[in-house]
Amino acid sequence: MAKVHVFDHPLIQHKLTHIRDVNTGTKEFRELVDEVATLMAYEITRDLPLTEVEVETPVQTAKSNVLAGKKIGIVPILRAGIGMVDGILKLIPAAKVGHIGLFRDPDTLQPVEYFVKLPSDVSEREFILIDPMLATGGTAVEAVNSLKKRGAKNIRFMCLIAAPEGVKVFTEAHPDIDVYIAALDEKLNEKGYIVPGLGDAGDRLFGTK
Ligand code: URA
Repeated sequence: MAKVHVFDHPLIQHKLTHIRDVNTGTKEFRELVDEVATLMAYEITRDLPLTEVEVETPVQTAKSNVLAGKKIGIVPILRAGIGMVDGILKLIPAAKVGHIGLFRDPDTLQPVEYFVKLPSDVSEREFILIDPMLATGGTAVEAVNSLKKRGAKNIRFMCLIAAPEGVKVFTEAHPDIDVYIAALDEKLNEKGYIVPGLGDAGDRLFGTK
């Protein structure tokens, strides 16, 4: 069964409070999302495998650890996921970045792919799929379907804020995928917004309305 990890680090919680604040403008919102993404990347990479190497210090030769060369892929769900990419790349600069774009079909209300571009070695990568908000869960479920049908075998999903409804839908659809969040909020409202949430993440990141 999927595990849901809530990152309750004080710095993440502090910055998230300012992200939520309606009085936080676009520039500061973008900077804070970037910073929280970096902090979350630090937490999510805790279990990356290490391998021992020898290093020559100014004093003597020592055995020390380096990352065991795991290939990471970061995949933002368009468009709001883009706001978290640079923050993650600060800690994992060698990661490759894919993109997944989905729209909601007005008749079926189901998410439909309109853009998918992934690194060519999909099956060898450990993917971090990102979207600031896990609301109904429909988009995240479909984004994972997109990754899986192209051969992705290792996927984690990371978001800033999740609604319990979205977590349930997502973990039932993809019990093999762990979810990493900064906050689990109260509920969804009738318009599909997370309560209390932060409003529309894309609009707040890009200054659109
Ligand atoms: N997407 C958002 O940007 N905000 C929400 O509250 C829900 C979905």
